Amino acid sequence: MPHISIISSSVRTGRNSHRVALYFKKYLEENKLATVEILDLHAYNFPLFDERLRFQKTPSPAVLEFAEKIKSSEGVLIITPEYNGGYPASLKNVVDLLYDEWHRKPIAISTVSDGIFGGTQVITALQFSLWKIRAWTVPAMFPVPKVHDTFDENGNPADKPATDKRASTFINELLWCIEAKKRMTN
Ligand SMILES: Cc1cc2nc3c(=O)[nH]c(=O)nc-3n(C[C@H](O)[C@H](O)[C@H](O)COP(=O)(O)O)c2cc1C
Repeated sequence: MPHISIISSSVRTGRNSHRVALYFKKYLEENKLATVEILDLHAYNFPLFDERLRFQKTPSPAVLEFAEKIKSSEGVLIITPEYNGGYPASLKNVVDLLYDEWHRKPIAISTVSDGIFGGTQVITALQFSLWKIRAWTVPAMFPVPKVHDTFDENGNPADKPATDKRASTFINELLWCIEAKKRMTN
């Protein structure tokens, strides 16, 4: 079973996109598709970026731990809210922090908003940053509109059959990329 890290990007007080991170953890574990850990940027509370990890002289244990968790994950699932048409500074903060850890890492992106468009305007900007840093973004989308109505605080979807069906298509693309990478010899 692959190991997948879910990055929960919102550090906002009273955030709602974390519900989607909880949902995917449960979905992956219940269906025995992966072992999962949520990397919660709110809990990490990283300071504003001031240098890349590989150039830091005395990196904090938290930064080293985060880097190791990304490095040792076979895939990453990013849950990002849409803020004014972009992704949050908290997420850019950790994209810029690492370098080799992102290289060829299969990364799927789920965008979240409380409006009707499900944060889809975030996708191109985030994909481009991840492409620039040599990650392997998975060509699949999981937009979540009206998150406060569609998931409860524990990550239970209002319409579980429909949500699980959509999740299956999305997650299968991530798992395919993880498997494809595994089959490469170098
Ligand atoms: C600074 C800020 C800007 C936002 N801009 C948008 C937006 O452009 N479009 C949208 O649909 N929702 C927007 N929202 C609402 C978020 O989509 C909503 O809070 C959602 O729950 C995901 O973010 P959260 O995890 O921080 O709650 C914005 C929220 C904040 C705090």
